Amino acid sequence: MKQNDEKWLKKERRKGGERRRPGGGRPPFVERRKRERRKSLYNMVPEEKRNLWREKRVAFIGCGNMGSALISGILGSGLISKDKVLVTDIRPKRLEYIRKKEGVSTTENNREAVEKCDIIVLAVKPQVMERVLSEIKDVVTGDKLIISIAAGITTGFIEKVLEKEVPVVRVMPNTPALVKTGASGLCPGKYAGEEEETVAEQMMSRVGIVVKVPEEMLDAVTALSGSGPAYIFYIIESLIEAGMEMGLSEDDARKLVNQTVLGAVNMVMETGESPQVLRHKVTSPGGTTEAALKYLEEKGFQKILIAAVKEAAIRSKELSKG
Ligand SMILES: NC(=O)c1ccc[n+]([C@@H]2O[C@H](COP(=O)([O-])OP(=O)(O)OC[C@H]3O[C@@H](n4cnc5c(N)ncnc54)[C@H](OP(=O)(O)O)[C@@H]3O)[C@@H](O)[C@H]2O)c1
Repeated sequence: MKQNDEKWLKKERRKGGERRRPGGGRPPFVERRKRERRKSLYNMVPEEKRNLWREKRVAFIGCGNMGSALISGILGSGLISKDKVLVTDIRPKRLEYIRKKEGVSTTENNREAVEKCDIIVLAVKPQVMERVLSEIKDVVTGDKLIISIAAGITTGFIEKVLEKEVPVVRVMPNTPALVKTGASGLCPGKYAGEEEETVAEQMMSRVGIVVKVPEEMLDAVTALSGSGPAYIFYIIESLIEAGMEMGLSEDDARKLVNQTVLGAVNMVMETGESPQVLRHKVTSPGGTTEAALKYLEEKGFQKILIAAVKEAAIRSKELSKG
């Protein structure tokens, strides 16, 4: 009991045992306990969500760029311990690499991994997905969760090949996930509920941000953030080229461009201002920026960029139809 509480009780006893303070106030310990109870209720939701992973074993089928980035992400953040992770790949070298780097268990047997685990992350290329699904289908049971990161492979396709009512969550990540600044779109399949979505969301949030979308929006996500890093690389490449054409060394041009792109993104994220407002702020009438932007507008740069992203979405739709 805190000193204040004792003082309060003594005072109240002297007054004849009245439990309420004059003026209607409650004793300090009652208020404190109420505060603590409110705090623990507030904490319960994330705590419960963490438990979703704590009791599970997870298999990664395919340990290439994405698979290994995700394994490092979930282990590094403490979402799961290494003794609960089992990794498969057809390349023994990849398995040796991840075993040495992360201390996880590995096997070349996909069926064994599925049998031993509760969450199955499919991180193989889309072309081999059907083969992998057919291989594991009779050891997949309805109480397992399938998380697929394969581009263009629909939840419907996975459910159909597995021939059972199994929860599937589909994720569309992007390469910056390799440096923990990824952006993923996520959608549940027919048999996946909120809990399964949360499990997948928690995994992906270890390597970046996650946006939940209906499955029909995944082609747009693929076009925007999936392919997006390539558009930005292209812009970076072109700006470096411009710097060099104007006489700067490649090294100086690269340093200036990289930092400019990073700075511009940080300004958008940290100021909360729209890119249009920020653009207007650096565009003084008759100035240098205006000269460049005017040229881009005349050449229809924005329209071209928007059309290009839409092309990517059309291609994504075509690919997911097979
Ligand atoms: N990388 C990205 O930026 C990115 C972005 C969005 C989505 N994705 C999706 O993420 C998935 C993985 O991409 P990734 O870049 O990580 O590919 P990756 O580096 O090629 O990794 C896939 C690994 O799976 C192995 N593999 C092939 N068949 C297998 C089988 N039957 N069983 C077990 N392992 C097998 C591959 O071996 P082999 O090399 O010998 O085939 C390779 O080591 C793809 O479906 C892709 O669409 C990737």
